[in-house]
Amino acid sequence: MKIQFPTIAIVGTGAMGRGIAQIAAQAGSQVFLLDANPGAADAAQAALQEQWNKLVAKGRIDAAQASELVARLHPVKAVTDLASCDLVVEAIVERLDVKKALFAELEAVVRPDAVLATNTSSLSVTAIGAGLQRPERLAGFHFFNPVPLMKVVEVIAGLKTDAAVCTALAAYAKQMGHTPVQAQDTPGFIVNHAGRGFGTEALRIVGEGVADFATIDRILRDQVGFKLGPFELMDLTALDVSHPVMESIYRQYYDEPRFRPSVITAQRLAGGIVGKKVGEGFYRYVDGVAQVPA
Ligand code: NAI
Repeated sequence: MKIQFPTIAIVGTGAMGRGIAQIAAQAGSQVFLLDANPGAADAAQAALQEQWNKLVAKGRIDAAQASELVARLHPVKAVTDLASCDLVVEAIVERLDVKKALFAELEAVVRPDAVLATNTSSLSVTAIGAGLQRPERLAGFHFFNPVPLMKVVEVIAGLKTDAAVCTALAAYAKQMGHTPVQAQDTPGFIVNHAGRGFGTEALRIVGEGVADFATIDRILRDQVGFKLGPFELMDLTALDVSHPVMESIYRQYYDEPRFRPSVITAQRLAGGIVGKKVGEGFYRYVDGVAQVPA
């Protein structure tokens, strides 16, 4: 089967960029990696190599396949290195001005038929595309963390997006083993809109002193059947990513009270207590394992 996008670029090789790079390489694409932080693209390649080595140890792939996958990753240093890409997926910081500036830079470099995609969690695809010469080739392509395990991807058309771009992204998502879901270009799309009820309400329960965070997690996980409780999820996503998403959705809905972000997460973000990636969020982590309070 012909691969939809033989050569792609991931810009922003943090938690999400790495995951998207992994499944794109596994689907057969050549994957350029670019990050503003020097060394981050090389670090992403090294981390993915380790990931594939683990699959070799488990007998899921052989050593030759792992080497082939690593060879599909190409860390680069500048936007100008992305001229040959069929698709660019942006997974940088969740800020409209920064994303718009990146796409303006990309538009000047990539081929006229290249597709541009944003992994934004909450920002308007239409707004990100405003100012582009060809906004019709930009769509939302919203994955979830951890990308290889979370099999749904939202495909979002902005008001100017060409329907063929969404069709191509949906086909590519399937080639990556994922399930594409069409979502409208509204704040938070489907999952992060629904997620306000999950996270914000749980924070209110803590704020009102009804129960502590570990109890809420335990009940929603063990009794209601969610894979992770809301605080475990916030620790995994990290508050430097999820708190701006909460603020963005709240603002875009004109300060709708039910979406109001919590002072609890604002304070923790200000204190750098953002989640698992720094060893401490709502839980403390020892060797990556949450220490559940007694
Ligand atoms: P992250 O902080 O792990 O990674 C972001 C990377 O982008 C960093 O390596 C940073 O150096 C780089 N970067 C920042 N500005 C840049 C620029 N102008 N040019 C090139 N590189 C730049 O963040 P994460 O979690 O990977 O999130 C990235 C995007 O994906 C955000 O838009 C976020 O809202 C979205 N997202 C995050 C999810 C999560 O659970 N963490 C889930 C779904 C979407």
